[in-house]
Amino acid sequence: MADGLGDVLVDQAAIESEVARLGVQISGDYTDKRLHIVSVLKGSALFVADLMRALSVPATIDFISIVPYAEVSASGVVRIKKDLDDPIEGRDVLVVEGICASGLTLSYLLRNFETRNPASLRVCAFLAKRRHEPRQVQLDYIGREIPDVFVVGYGLDREERYRNLPYIARLA
Ligand code: IMP
Ligand code: MG
Repeated sequence: MADGLGDVLVDQAAIESEVARLGVQISGDYTDKRLHIVSVLKGSALFVADLMRALSVPATIDFISIVPYAEVSASGVVRIKKDLDDPIEGRDVLVVEGICASGLTLSYLLRNFETRNPASLRVCAFLAKRRHEPRQVQLDYIGREIPDVFVVGYGLDREERYRNLPYIARLA
């Protein structure tokens, strides 16, 4: 175990089985569509690579990089660091995120994407935190719900550390 880490919340085998399940579910929902994945960097990088391979339908991919809501002032605006390469107008967009906490980041992103007129817009988060307040966004696909604790690994960081861990753990 890497230093500074506490309990493992989602181990490698559990990650694999949740990704496989999501792959089947999403493939079933997009058989007659043209799935266009939008991966929210950097936290979803490992997840989206696995999820793509678990799909049995064709899929294209694009990436967006933002400053998370939590790191911006309470303005409610999320700053886009790197925008999408391609227009999403008329496409069946699935936004893929590593973790959803309050949901404010995703809700801002969705409002932004809606103005670009996609044919459909859904969201998949590998992790969703269980919190007292309702989530600010409706998630269409969830890997695992976890307690409201800070976690790292499988793409998720604390100050850019731990992203390469093949499991998800609490910080000690
Ligand atoms: P939200 O806007 O509150 O949903 O926060 C979402 C963003 O905060 C995610 O995209 C992550 O960048 C970051 N985040 C929230 N919780 C965690 C965590 O437990 N570990 C790592 N990053 C987190
Ligand atoms: Mg981060």
